[in-house]
Amino acid sequence: MGLRLGFKVQTCAFALLLFSLHFAHGDVSYSFPEEMRRGSVIGNIAKDLGLEASRLSSRKARIDTDGNDKRYCDINLSNGDLIVAGRIDREALCGDKASCVLKQELTLENPLELRHVNLHIQDINDNSPQFKEELIEIEIRESAVKGARFPIEEAHDADRGQYSVKTYNLQKNDNFILGVETNSVELVLDKEFDREQLKEISLVLTALDGGSPQRSGTVVIHVTVLDANDNIPVFSKAVYEASLPENAPIGTVVVTVSATDADEGVNGDVTYDFGHISEEVRTIFVIDHKTGDVKLASTVDYETTPSFELRVKAKDGLGLTSYAKVNIHVTDVNDNEPIIFLKSIYNPIAENVSPGTEVGIINVQDRDSERNRQVRCSIQQNVPFKLVPSIKNHYSLISTAHLDRELVSEYNITITATDEGSPPLSSSKTVHLSVADVNDNPPVFEEQSYSAYVTENNKPGSTLCSVTARDPDWRQNGTVIYSLLAAEVNGAPVSSYLSVNGDTGVIHTVRSFDYEHFRSFKVHVMARDNGSPPLSSNVSVSVFIADVNDNSPQILYPSPEGNSFMTELVPKAAHGGSLVSKVIAVDADSGQNAWLSYHIIKSTDPGLFTIGLHSGEIRTQRDISESDSMKQNLIVAVKDNGQPSLSATCTMYLLISDNLAEVPELKDISYDENNSKLTFYLIIALVCVSTFFLTFIIIILGVRFCRRRKPRLLFDGAVAIPSAYLPPNYTEVDGTGTLRSAYNYDAYLTTGSRTSDFKFVSSYNDNTLPADQTLRKSPSDFAEAFGGCDDSPEVGFGVRC
Ligand SMILES: *[C@@H]1O[C@H](CO)[C@@H](O)[C@H](O)[C@H]1NC(C)=O
Repeated sequence: MGLRLGFKVQTCAFALLLFSLHFAHGDVSYSFPEEMRRGSVIGNIAKDLGLEASRLSSRKARIDTDGNDKRYCDINLSNGDLIVAGRIDREALCGDKASCVLKQELTLENPLELRHVNLHIQDINDNSPQFKEELIEIEIRESAVKGARFPIEEAHDADRGQYSVKTYNLQKNDNFILGVETNSVELVLDKEFDREQLKEISLVLTALDGGSPQRSGTVVIHVTVLDANDNIPVFSKAVYEASLPENAPIGTVVVTVSATDADEGVNGDVTYDFGHISEEVRTIFVIDHKTGDVKLASTVDYETTPSFELRVKAKDGLGLTSYAKVNIHVTDVNDNEPIIFLKSIYNPIAENVSPGTEVGIINVQDRDSERNRQVRCSIQQNVPFKLVPSIKNHYSLISTAHLDRELVSEYNITITATDEGSPPLSSSKTVHLSVADVNDNPPVFEEQSYSAYVTENNKPGSTLCSVTARDPDWRQNGTVIYSLLAAEVNGAPVSSYLSVNGDTGVIHTVRSFDYEHFRSFKVHVMARDNGSPPLSSNVSVSVFIADVNDNSPQILYPSPEGNSFMTELVPKAAHGGSLVSKVIAVDADSGQNAWLSYHIIKSTDPGLFTIGLHSGEIRTQRDISESDSMKQNLIVAVKDNGQPSLSATCTMYLLISDNLAEVPELKDISYDENNSKLTFYLIIALVCVSTFFLTFIIIILGVRFCRRRKPRLLFDGAVAIPSAYLPPNYTEVDGTGTLRSAYNYDAYLTTGSRTSDFKFVSSYNDNTLPADQTLRKSPSDFAEAFGGCDDSPEVGFGVRC
């Protein structure tokens, strides 16, 4: 092919604005000559399709070839020009076909869009006419008469239309002129030969095409003048039609041509051969020179070449030839399975896309024809995707339900394409689709609420418990961070009580707890994921502090320091079983740790007094007799029931007497009085000062308690138990404490003053005493002091003098 010529034609085509374009259904067609230089602009596809050139790049515009891997054109993403990307040779692409269309597809994403681009390749005159042979031998009988016609095989030009062979020129000579009819060239004898004058002649026949400038091809016709051979072979048909199923086995006889020659002997011996056929066709068919059978030498493919046109030649023994045409129509067999192309896919796809979202585009092609290329596409699996037919042979892959990465994180979608041939062929393709995570799950605690138990006096920093929350989201969307919700517990920030490990959820104590201070509290722990925005949830953690026996019993009465002035009077007439006194003790712990028991561990007369194991009541064991010593001392131990138990002791001084005057100390004093009047006055003075001092102390105390209102003297006797005796925060949990059970008792008390004699009656029975004789504390004060929280908080002390 002449490069110079091609270039000229090309320039011409540009100059004449030969390009044309047509729109159909949003598609675009361009018409341009073959053999354009790489990089030549075919047209501006962005403008022609009404697309914004600036968005081409972001929409990933690209040219896809329709199932063909050779690249002919490309799109310039900066300005939308469609440019030539490879050699486009019309003859190579389309051969003999009258029109040559290259189908390309422009794929755009976001949203997915598909446009067909049809490139109509125009022929240029880049091929010269060509004769099959360089030399044609013709033998002519000398008897041939004027007007005899001798067919010459015509020249062939790969170009089409006006660029195909148009005219023939025969070298000037005396004997022949050229007879040209449609599709045949003949030498017509103009002047008869005389073999004796001219045995042979060589003529040059030139074939010219219609291009400008013209291209030409020549053949030398060598004519030999022979003796008589009157008849040329005659084919039984001018055109043989045959049909051949594709993939027919090699050796299949497609058609049998036959020609007869009326001559006898060598002159009537017909042999067959092909006329001008392409090299390609020559490899497919062979002709039996003797029988005229046209046989298949290799397989034919309908999809590549649906028909063949052969020229066959019959030649008799002396070289007279005639020609016929064989048209072979290849019929389609369903031998191509559909091919599925994944044109576009959004992968991964976010799990929160709404149903109906297009996630991909599928293209199916089947190279067969008619029914054999009708393809149906389907998804057989149970996946939330379906195929929706869109533009010709294209399907959209659409989601049909909400996706949840936590349930299914990826899909292998198998698409099956089946054609309608008989039998049908099918193929399948698996599309892998990952689901991308969205932070759509808050962390969820494993339990609805947590309880933790810790014994008091714990070591700060010890592990209390751990909370766990799960978040099924991915990576940081599922990473859980724990924190304490800011709040106050008993007026102090929660962080001064507990801390939580943000990564593990392990909760540590920050301080040591005191059961006697508080027994439980509640905090809230938040679990938050690391998503954007983060999601969180809360859980409550109740902390219960368990008691430890860390408080020893505290004896309220008699005073543990003990002095002999705190002496109980026991009437001489007391019978066995009489209540003499009571040891009152409390324990700040609770439960078993505060369950007190009383034991006499030492006494002046071990048989005389007993103590109630849990009541602390001291009673006579038998009637008092004259022989009993007047002064009786008891050492009482109070133990709690903790493990190990703690205890306290006190001394109880008892005096068996009906009269204070019998008190030995007083007797001693009276003896002294008799002996010394001075001493008597001194004692009087001392008693006066003591009485005055005691009164003063009582007034001071009274004023003080009145002003503070708390603690207040529980009763106004000399031996009162001011609440100041009570240990701070003394509480009682479940009624096993000392002061709880209701009882009445009479007690004989003495202040140690020789002039005071008090008898107290106290009762815990609610409302058994008149209101005016009942000292009341406010319920809260009382609960604080005695912890009788689950009983009526009213306690009355009746006082009888
Ligand atoms: C999808 O196919 C891939 C590759 O064959 C495989 O590794 C994966 O496990 C498959 N996934 C599912 C959900 O079947």
